[in-house]
Amino acid sequence: MNDIIPEALRRGEEYLDRVNELPVSRGQDPTAIRQHLEQTYSFAAPMPAAELVDDVAGMLEDWAVQTIHPRYFGYFNPTPLPEAVAGDLMAAIYNPQLAVWSHGPAAVEMEQHVLRWLAGRFGLPGATCGAHFTSGGSEANFTAVLAALTSRLPAYARHGLGGIDEKPTIYHSAAAHDSFTKICHMTGLGRDALRVVPLDGHMRLDLDALRERLEADRDAGETPVMVVATAGTTAAGIIDPLEETAALCRKHSAWFHVDAAWGGAAVLSPRLEQLMRGIEMADSITCDAHKWLNVTMGAGMFFCRDKRVLDETFRVSTDYMPGLTAGVVDNFVTSAQWSRRFIGLKLFLALASRGESGFAEIIEGQAAVGDYLRQRLEEAGWVHISRSPLPVCCVTHPRIEAGETSVDKVLEKVLASGQAWISKVKLGDRAALRACVTSCLTTLEDIDALVDEMDAAVAG
Ligand SMILES: Cc1ncc(COP(=O)(O)O)c(C=O)c1O
Repeated sequence: MNDIIPEALRRGEEYLDRVNELPVSRGQDPTAIRQHLEQTYSFAAPMPAAELVDDVAGMLEDWAVQTIHPRYFGYFNPTPLPEAVAGDLMAAIYNPQLAVWSHGPAAVEMEQHVLRWLAGRFGLPGATCGAHFTSGGSEANFTAVLAALTSRLPAYARHGLGGIDEKPTIYHSAAAHDSFTKICHMTGLGRDALRVVPLDGHMRLDLDALRERLEADRDAGETPVMVVATAGTTAAGIIDPLEETAALCRKHSAWFHVDAAWGGAAVLSPRLEQLMRGIEMADSITCDAHKWLNVTMGAGMFFCRDKRVLDETFRVSTDYMPGLTAGVVDNFVTSAQWSRRFIGLKLFLALASRGESGFAEIIEGQAAVGDYLRQRLEEAGWVHISRSPLPVCCVTHPRIEAGETSVDKVLEKVLASGQAWISKVKLGDRAALRACVTSCLTTLEDIDALVDEMDAAVAG
């Protein structure tokens, strides 16, 4: 038997045991990586499994930001739960094909079971809602725009944007995820169709500005098809006013999409769920399991209030696929992907293993560590320039404001220390350092270490 799987498990376990001791990141040099690849991988002769696995693992340890490290305070990349890793492994071993129900009925039903359960937590109507797993939040947002166009402009499916009279526009705040810019390009809406609405004093979608823009566009003969509210913005974790945005959408017959790619996980926490109030009014929701639900990439989810819209958007008939099965989900006619891996198994295993209360504990634990981070930064003289109820902080410092140092210099020093990984953002016209609690293994001691590192970097 090929021994590469046991070798990969052996090396993976070793890595998990000592990842905490590794630098969170090291220098990155494309020349060194390419030279190593040239020298080691001519592919001319077979390579023994142990040697191959050790070499690849070494590259991943030396030449990557260790996103699973408890002192990685970067983007929404979690330390995956072991159940999620097992889920990926089982999905790879069994490799079921989820395009059609009849090829992988158990797998499709497990995914639908977990999606139905989550749809219920979002407050969507179980009987009429449709949902599927995606590669990530970008694909889910893409699906939302396609669904909105299909639902609001019946001639779009047949004639495309060039063959209809309407000039569709979509709306989101200046802090929304930029996937929508690419989506406007990819769908043929054009980048100019995206209306970027300013933020209010709390960095949320400004409702007055949205109202004015919707009315002005209607008066100018445009057709507002969709408004996106973000529940947990990428930079600052801000939650847009969901209920009020829903009401405006209703008034203008616009599709209401909630991008809860990161923040959506809060619905599983009794303490945080009220932050998501209004999400139940969404026509569609993006929520990524590979963010705050702590599973491996890529596991996005798309929820649609009315599954008939998905049926209409992705309908297709072929002679070479097995026939469809009545009363079940055949993913290739309800979603963008065709051949599809068993994405949902990792979330299924994690939820089944931990239970809802276990998940609530993890999410609330991370939120509490985020509260501690907020407080420690404040005590150390850092100034918050955004206020999120979720575990992400964006800060500046009096020394930065006075021009004695800069965000870039502080960032460089923190990253060079290898002790923690943070990022920088621009909120309005202010640069800030951003630290997000994204690992369920981050402790209060890790927060102390981060703040010490930031203090040393800003002082030096
Ligand atoms: C709010 C939001 N939406 C969408 C996305 C895109 O998700 P993905 O990177 O999984 O495509 C992100 C990514 O960080 C995000 O923060």
